Amino acid sequence: REDRPLQAAVITLSDKGFKGEREDKSGPLLASILEEQGYEVVESIILPDVQSQIEKELIRLSDGRQVDLILTTGGTGLSVRDVTPEATLAVATRNVPGISEAIRAYSMGITKRAMLSRGASVLRNSTLIINLPGSPKAVKESMEVILSELDHGLKILK
Ligand code: MTE
Repeated sequence: REDRPLQAAVITLSDKGFKGEREDKSGPLLASILEEQGYEVVESIILPDVQSQIEKELIRLSDGRQVDLILTTGGTGLSVRDVTPEATLAVATRNVPGISEAIRAYSMGITKRAMLSRGASVLRNSTLIINLPGSPKAVKESMEVILSELDHGLKILK
């Protein structure tokens, strides 16, 4: 783990995207932001908003693939189908609330609807998992806040 570039995985949560009814723009955007920063994006997947499936993939990517970072996009709002934070908290070994607090604090200056994102940030052992909202706009804005500090956090974990 120590001598390879930081490895990341991207998970898009979207019933419509999973069924091919909507083109996923947020997943590819996230992957390209990460790659620009020198991360190796080892997997990008789309899942439906089904908690058990999300948990299973989070566990596979962290325990199996041992990626350093998993970023999710979507499924953080108030609709009954939005279960990304529940899946994330269910697989967590430790909570990292400051990251989600920072995303919401910064985003509130852009849109007050940021208060409606329930996104969580956690560790599962040495994998950091961060939930971002679903829109490409929200993804871009959230990455503006966290990107500069992510590297430092992930290096401490290695
Ligand atoms: N955060 C930022 N930075 N920019 C945004 O445009 N949109 C909000 C919020 N967070 C937004 C944001 C909106 S409108 C919603 S409903 C919630 O994220 C949840 O989005 P999700 O259900 O797609 O995860």
